[in-house]
Amino acid sequence: MDFSREKPLMRVNAVAVGMLTALITLAGCRTAMRVGSPTSAVARGGLAPTPPMGWNSWNKFGCRIDENLIKETADAIVSSGMKDAGYHYVNIDDCWEAPQRDADGNLATDPQRFPHGMKWLADYVHSKGLEIGIYSSAGTGTCQRRPASLDHEVADARTFASWGIDYLKYDNCNNQNRPALERYKAMGDALAAAGRPIVYSLCEWGRNKPWEWGRSVGGNLWRTTGDIRDRWDSMLGILDKQVGLEKYSGPNAWNDPDMLEVGNGRMTNSEYVAHFSLWSLLNAPLIAGNDIRSMNDSTRAILTNRDVIAVDQDWGGMQGHRIRDDGEQEVWMKPMSNGDAAVVLLNRDSAATATIAVTPQELGLAAGRHGVRDLWTHKSATVDGTISAAVGPRSVAMYRVSKGS
Ligand code: GLA
Repeated sequence: MDFSREKPLMRVNAVAVGMLTALITLAGCRTAMRVGSPTSAVARGGLAPTPPMGWNSWNKFGCRIDENLIKETADAIVSSGMKDAGYHYVNIDDCWEAPQRDADGNLATDPQRFPHGMKWLADYVHSKGLEIGIYSSAGTGTCQRRPASLDHEVADARTFASWGIDYLKYDNCNNQNRPALERYKAMGDALAAAGRPIVYSLCEWGRNKPWEWGRSVGGNLWRTTGDIRDRWDSMLGILDKQVGLEKYSGPNAWNDPDMLEVGNGRMTNSEYVAHFSLWSLLNAPLIAGNDIRSMNDSTRAILTNRDVIAVDQDWGGMQGHRIRDDGEQEVWMKPMSNGDAAVVLLNRDSAATATIAVTPQELGLAAGRHGVRDLWTHKSATVDGTISAAVGPRSVAMYRVSKGS
């Protein structure tokens, strides 16, 4: 059976020079996959040259999912401008599965929630120029106790390929204490043999340092921590655990600090701006987790901020990392591929505004004058020497500092 199909090559808007480079790589990889065998791990390794962007059902909807939600979300990703901003995966998390495997032992779709079946839904998502993701666990059951893929890897990967799935999030529940590397490799190998390029997202919660072996099992991204919650402290707790992981991330193999909570209602707008800024600086997968169908203008403005997305999608050789920890105030920096530096000034304090300053030299740039673009106001200026900002409580300022003046 031939599962290959034309996929949209221009799926990420070129919002920066770095992104253009990524697109050229992406187009090259996909062309190679179509003309050659799409089954090798090497070919699949070309599936995420930049951090994946899309949406996932879990953070907002949990198990309250069905085919209408997925269809309407795909429509809304297009009509809201999210697709034009680069979001192209529509990912279904846990609870899509029927309570039992079918008579042939294959995973089956919940017939009540998804009466038309997964292939039909995948066709719909593809008709919108988007791609579809699904979820399973490297265990005997998913976290919500639906059938999962441990010891069924080959059959399940073939099922996903036959439905037209483009992305698999592979969880860690009910793993029978079997070694993680073995379990995740089994699915990596099965995906490689399934006849369709499928992005492989390891959701191992960072328990066994997946950043050290995720790439070797064909992983394109791996969760570094437990689950995010829609709270400032949860977001910062995850941020703190990213320190030191920067050296493991790179094209086709990204650290994943978990999906976005932007727009889910339990953080303030400026906390969501901080969350989105920091995740972008970390080259995190930008997987929105809100209700795209009804999001308000502030949420849409955050999720579609192209200046910030351009930082996420650019690979300058190192994901963003903390360069200064002054307690409640921190400075995070990411080198950009054209020699610029992206910088986030973070004020963790819950009550007081703080002035946070950074010199060009701390950012790896020459002393003196530099062009500085505020990535949230979109205003540019020339700054001589120290860059500084009064940053409100639980807020950030984010800049792109040019290599030269
Ligand atoms: C785990 C994962 C979450 C989500 C749920 C679904 O907790 O880490 O991201 O997929 O399972 O049950």
